[in-house]
Amino acid sequence: MINIPKGTKDVLPSQSYKWQFVEDVARETAKTFNYKEVRTPVFEYTELFQRGVGETTDVVNKEMYTFEDKGGRSITLKPEGTAGVARLFIENGLASSPLPVKTFYITPAFRYERPQAGRLREFHQFGLEVFGSPSPETDAEVIFAASSFLDKLGLKDIELQINSIGCPICRNEYNKALKKYFEPHLESMCQTCKTRYEKNPLRMLDCKEENCKAINANAPKILDYLCEDCKSHFEEVKALLNVLGLKYTVNPRIVRGLDYYTKTVFEFLTGKIGAQSAVCAGGRYDNLLSQLGGNSLPAIGFAAGIERLLLLMETTGAPFPAEQKPRIYIAGMDGKTRSLAFETAAYLRTNGVSAEVDHMQRSIKAQFKYADKIGAEFVAVIGEEEFNAGVVNVKKMADGSTSAVKIKELYTYLTKEI
Ligand code: HAM
Repeated sequence: MINIPKGTKDVLPSQSYKWQFVEDVARETAKTFNYKEVRTPVFEYTELFQRGVGETTDVVNKEMYTFEDKGGRSITLKPEGTAGVARLFIENGLASSPLPVKTFYITPAFRYERPQAGRLREFHQFGLEVFGSPSPETDAEVIFAASSFLDKLGLKDIELQINSIGCPICRNEYNKALKKYFEPHLESMCQTCKTRYEKNPLRMLDCKEENCKAINANAPKILDYLCEDCKSHFEEVKALLNVLGLKYTVNPRIVRGLDYYTKTVFEFLTGKIGAQSAVCAGGRYDNLLSQLGGNSLPAIGFAAGIERLLLLMETTGAPFPAEQKPRIYIAGMDGKTRSLAFETAAYLRTNGVSAEVDHMQRSIKAQFKYADKIGAEFVAVIGEEEFNAGVVNVKKMADGSTSAVKIKELYTYLTKEI
């Protein structure tokens, strides 16, 4: 027996309706906000993530599934959705289409992390990315779209935290302040922090080591170093969130785990599924396109982890719609009655009514039992008499009531509101 790889999950036939619900709500949300779907390959050239997500991040340093293909190219399974969509935008010249370009995706993503509840090695993200708008309205729209998505899933008590991590101008000043602060502590900090001190001090704030975390607690706050432009952008985003009636807390400690962010960053957090508290997160990334060789255009987006959302929905008892069941099970007895059952089911199916028939040569009694188990709403048995009369007794399983219906009129009967 070969088992499923560590950190991955199967979706079983009895569970897939939950996934479909989340994906339907995601698509519905994207449609309401006028975002168009994009699809990018599951793998990209490794360099895209090294340059896009950043060499000093855990994602790039420790978690990527990277391999050489048979042609000797370095390939990586996408660890997130944004970099691929940014590449798609540049490569297909979307900068010349009317701006902003508003996109969404539902994609698998891969990170070699230590699996735990809500943290997998293969997981799925629903994300939005908007290209071309520097305006705070777009930040507010993206955050509102995320919030509206979570609301429509029936999720409650999710906290929205926001921050601004500035632009390269204020980041420069801030990095200097961080270096000054960390210098006397550096000796006792972890090796990763020591490297980050040299390359990207902001990333030290993302360290998970207890000792480093304690030192981080008193580090200078980015909000005190924002330049005028970033400060007023952040003020406008907050004002717009107020207009939209979205509750949020400003958390100056949010730096996010990916290097491309500038200005607004945000996370939607829950306290109900253990350590993996972020169900949805994102931010602005105004320099990513130019870093990847495209036009210098601003962008912003978010991604929500579908497995994490499902875990939260199950933990909190958020209501899923009922699983779809067959409208009717049509039982036959022998050659010609089975054949008519099959033909009738085929007609109903062709016309969009879900119908089921026997595949296992079961007796009528066993077929009834099976129809009940699979939750068929109606059951009709075609015997000799029904075959000759062209009429069946249709049993409504919910209350046991029966109606005599002409076989040729089953479609009309089943499609009326009953
Ligand atoms: P991220 O915070 O790395 O951001 O991931 C976004 C969401 O994906 C997380 O909040 C979480 O729900 C889910 N997620 C991440 N890692 C795992 C995992 N190992 N197992 C299960 N779920 C996971 C990004 O990926 C950015 N691309 C978001 C973004 C889009 N920023 C701008 N645009």
